[in-house]
Amino acid sequence: MAEIGKDIQKAANILMAGGLVAIPTETVYGLAANAYEEEAILKVFKAKNRPAFDPLITHIRSIKAIDPLTQNIGQSARLLMEKFWPGPLTLVLDKSDAISDLISSGLSTAAFRIPRHALTRELLNNLDFPLVAPSANPFGYVSPTRPEHVEAQLGTKVDYILDGGPCPVGIESTIIGFDNDTPVVLRLGGLSIEAIEQVVGTVRVNDHSSSNPKAPGMLASHYSPAKKVVIGNIRNLLDADKNHKIGILSYQEKYPDYTNFVLSEVGDLDEAAKRLFEGLRWLDSQDIDLIISEYVPTHGLGRAINDRLNRAAAH
Ligand code: TXA
Ligand code: MG
Repeated sequence: MAEIGKDIQKAANILMAGGLVAIPTETVYGLAANAYEEEAILKVFKAKNRPAFDPLITHIRSIKAIDPLTQNIGQSARLLMEKFWPGPLTLVLDKSDAISDLISSGLSTAAFRIPRHALTRELLNNLDFPLVAPSANPFGYVSPTRPEHVEAQLGTKVDYILDGGPCPVGIESTIIGFDNDTPVVLRLGGLSIEAIEQVVGTVRVNDHSSSNPKAPGMLASHYSPAKKVVIGNIRNLLDADKNHKIGILSYQEKYPDYTNFVLSEVGDLDEAAKRLFEGLRWLDSQDIDLIISEYVPTHGLGRAINDRLNRAAAH
């Protein structure tokens, strides 16, 4: 099994030698490799069992570092990166030849962000190349928000796990693409739409589906636990189902007679986002055969939480 530790130099050495390191970010743990080495990039796809048509996010250390990797950055993209980087926002931009077609899955655009986690930022500052890093989970499963999650699923496939503790945001970055200069949200995530709209005005949110060619990885059934998930009114669902061993993922309310994970007793959506994947993982490991859950309010990170619940249920 891979070692878990806080040794940045060790992580840097492995990456320089073309190895894989799980890195902490504010959103989820990433499975990182040297973005300039095609062999290392291929290892990422292999370790995750990820199809080659699902492009990767490149993690950079500074806004300045974006210039050689991209072309034609528009005004809105500039505004967004200046306001929200480092942070849980990924921008899809026209790529330069410095970005391999393996990273972009052959598209002319590629995804970039500066993560906001002290350890990983220090790591990036110690490297003279950017890092490609998809979430560090097997393709299709729930993203990891703790080093132990990575160890449990990719422990034999990664060379080192950089321990940055639990991820403070807990849900993947918001992804924005551009239609000319008009921002389009391709994936809801850890930066709220309200925050984005304060900077660039009203944005369009693409509804994700498996037929959306601009976002090949955003399949309807993604981020799924192994167990079946049903979403609705929890009381009604409990009344209607007497056949399954049920586990409950609730927003605020406690269900003491059941295997139950409460996202946020005080009704704080940031706390709920931070705990969501941990809750899905925990319920998946319990002696139950059905997970029932409910939607959360649709402001702030609530929209992204509901999006992930829908995908978990689309299995
Ligand atoms: O928070 C995050 O974004 C985490 C951390 C590790 O940074 N990363 C993450 O990566 O969630 P991943 O690979 O699990 O999801 C990235 C998604 C892909 O599924 C893909 O759909 C989208 O980004 N993407 C990447 N390049 C794209 C492009 N050129 N056009 C459209 N979508 C793209
Ligand atoms: Mg992922």
